Amino acid sequence: MKLPHIKTSGMGFAIVAMVLVGTSLNSPRARADSSDEKSDESKIKTGFDIAPVKLDLHGKNRALVGLGSYIVNAVSDCNGCHSAGPQTEFLAGGNPYLGQHPTKINTATYLGGGRDFGPYGPGGALTHLYSRNLTPDKTGRPLGGAEFSEFLEIMRTGKDFDGVHPTCTGTPNGTCLPAPFDGSLLQVMRWPFFTNMTDRDLRAIYEYLSAIPCIAGPATGLLHHDC
Ligand code: HEC
Repeated sequence: MKLPHIKTSGMGFAIVAMVLVGTSLNSPRARADSSDEKSDESKIKTGFDIAPVKLDLHGKNRALVGLGSYIVNAVSDCNGCHSAGPQTEFLAGGNPYLGQHPTKINTATYLGGGRDFGPYGPGGALTHLYSRNLTPDKTGRPLGGAEFSEFLEIMRTGKDFDGVHPTCTGTPNGTCLPAPFDGSLLQVMRWPFFTNMTDRDLRAIYEYLSAIPCIAGPATGLLHHDC
């Protein structure tokens, strides 16, 4: 909170400061939330209108789910990278790039990951670089059970908690990433930009990702989720 520029000394300043602190402590959190909600009203409504999958709102904050859908589906195009790839992203007859309308998103691969961005890195060092499965598993938490704190750290710092492609210590072998890249960080993923989102927006994305259906993906491996 920015204090107004008041030239005063001693007690006078202390009293002004106390009054200001008092004001901020007294303004109930709930009020701030509902005014956020009011200014986001049209985004929340649009979010529900454009969500391509059935949402499970049980135990969720409805406004955050709607806002999260708006960010995921209208602003950040998470599914553009987190589907299984351009060939299966849209249903037959609903591929906008073929001039087909309306756009029909393939819900069977929606945010289930698996799009291959490999070969990647110097000399194509990584044979494959797959986007991840963002859907919830049977715990109901996204990315197969991630807490919000973990999700927040990923979106703010790009940390790869799964260590999929560590920095190479010897000759590149197709699964490690050689210098100058830092293999502990997610590549391709747009975290250097998502890092600028507000906590509320990131919380909204997390809430939305908790409400979408689980995609089991392949039978084993990182992309598999126990639905
Ligand atoms: C330009 C493509 C691209 C876009 C857009 C994108 N991602 Fe990603 N994301 C990736 C790739 C690729 C990975 C895996 C990177 C790696 O293995 O180094 C990834 C990884 C992640 C991870 C790490 C998952 C885990 O299990 O640790 C999260 C979380 C994530 N993305 C969330 C999002 C969200 C939410 C959005 C939209 C707001 C989004 N991504 C948009 C490409 C993208």
